[in-house]
Amino acid sequence: MNTVLVAYATKHGSTREVAADVARVIRQAGFEVDISPARDVKSLDLYQAVVLGGALYMGRLHKDARKLLKRKRGELASLPLAVFAMGPKSTEPQELEGARAQLERALNAVPEVKPLATAIFGGVMKFGKKKALDARDWEAIQAWAEEVAHKLGAALAR
Ligand SMILES: Cc1cc2nc3c(=O)[nH]c(=O)nc-3n(C[C@H](O)[C@H](O)[C@H](O)COP(=O)(O)O)c2cc1C
Repeated sequence: MNTVLVAYATKHGSTREVAADVARVIRQAGFEVDISPARDVKSLDLYQAVVLGGALYMGRLHKDARKLLKRKRGELASLPLAVFAMGPKSTEPQELEGARAQLERALNAVPEVKPLATAIFGGVMKFGKKKALDARDWEAIQAWAEEVAHKLGAALAR
C-alpha cells in the first residue's frame, strides 16, 4: 500500500490540527498515512508521497518547513508532493494573495521541487488568553485534501 507522509511546521498548533484533518481525509481515500512534525522527519525512504503544511510568520513559511524542503529537495523533486500554508486572518483576496506570495517565495528557493497542489488556508489569531479569530475553513481544507488524494493516486498510478 502507498504510504503518504503528512509533515507540518507549527508554533501554536493550528497548522498541526489542519495537518491532522488532511491526514484523516487522505487515509479515508485509502492511503496509509503517517503524520510528523517537519523537523522530526529524518528519512523519506518509507514514503511514496508527501504533504507538507507550514504556518506563515513574518512574511515567511515556518523555518521547519523551509528546512525540510531544502534538506530533502532531491527526494521531493521526484516524489508527488502537495504543500499548504496557513496564515491570513481572513480569506479576503488581498490577504490570500499576500500569503500566497510568501509560500511561493519558499517554493522558489527549491526550484526543482514542483508540488502537484498548493493551498493557502486562513489561520488562527490569538488575542490574549481566551479570544481567538479562527479563519480556518474546514470544508475548504477537506475539499483540498480530497483533491490531493485524487492527484496523489493519479501520480502513483503512472
Ligand atoms: C507574530 C505573527 C506573525 C504572523 N505573520 C504572518 C504572515 O506574515 N503572513 C500570514 O499569512 N500570517 C501570519 N501570521 C498568522 C499565522 O500564520 C497564523 O496565526 C497561523 O494560524 C499560525 O499557525 P500555528 O498555530 O500553526 O503556529 C502571523 C501570526 C503571528 C502571531
